[in-house]
Amino acid sequence: MRLLFVGDVVGSPGRRALRDLLPGLREEHQPDWVVVNGENAAGGLGITSKLVRELLDDLDVDVITLGNHAYHRRDVYGLLDTEDRIVRPANYPKGNPGRGYTVVERDGRRLAVVNLSGMVFVQAARSPFAEIDAIIAELRDRADHLIVDFHAEATSEKVAMGWHVDGRVTACLGTHTHVPTADARVLPGGTAYISDVGMTGARGGVIVVRREQALERVRTMMPVKFETAEDDPWLNAVVVEADGEGRATGIEQVLMEAPG
Ligand SMILES: [Fe+2]
Ligand SMILES: [Fe+2]
Repeated sequence: MRLLFVGDVVGSPGRRALRDLLPGLREEHQPDWVVVNGENAAGGLGITSKLVRELLDDLDVDVITLGNHAYHRRDVYGLLDTEDRIVRPANYPKGNPGRGYTVVERDGRRLAVVNLSGMVFVQAARSPFAEIDAIIAELRDRADHLIVDFHAEATSEKVAMGWHVDGRVTACLGTHTHVPTADARVLPGGTAYISDVGMTGARGGVIVVRREQALERVRTMMPVKFETAEDDPWLNAVVVEADGEGRATGIEQVLMEAPG
């Protein structure tokens, strides 16, 4: 099994980078599945129904994951309930729009994708550690491979989650900070791990914001209107390889400059 997982796609520069680079990545890596974090797809904050359709239907993405910006656009709430190929953090309040995990199937092979939020410097309703235990038990006989998008801020919490799920999931991939980390590896139990995949968007900004606006804010401490950076778009992703038993055999980081 080969999976391409793309870090937070940010605004139109990120969507353009994904559209331009995805065909080449499919050709080079031959992924069975493509999973994309889309929490910043709409102008840097949240995702709209139109963009969900664009990713799933036009770009043929298998599953979209979200994060703390899941509910920024009201327009998508209905679709979060009806479209089973998009997930928001599983440990958000029960009864909120959407689902926390999903299982997609093709040619008799089943991939489970779980979205989970950390609790250090980000908010969640329940511990991600207890939550993932319950989900793994729930999915035990329902999927061949299980991957977790752990949307969290602190590397300490992410490393802890990696060890917590090692040997029980195929991959535990960090998102949210938009900065790729250099610690991709397969843990001893057979779980592919990285603290943060990074983002697909403009590297010339500060996380997602135009750098001159972010700098004015930190220099002056005055309110500044933030716009999405467009300068120097890159695609950040990982390719995970796994055996038929659900154990990862490799993880490779993909850091690519987008054309134009
Ligand atoms: Fe993000
Ligand atoms: Fe986030």
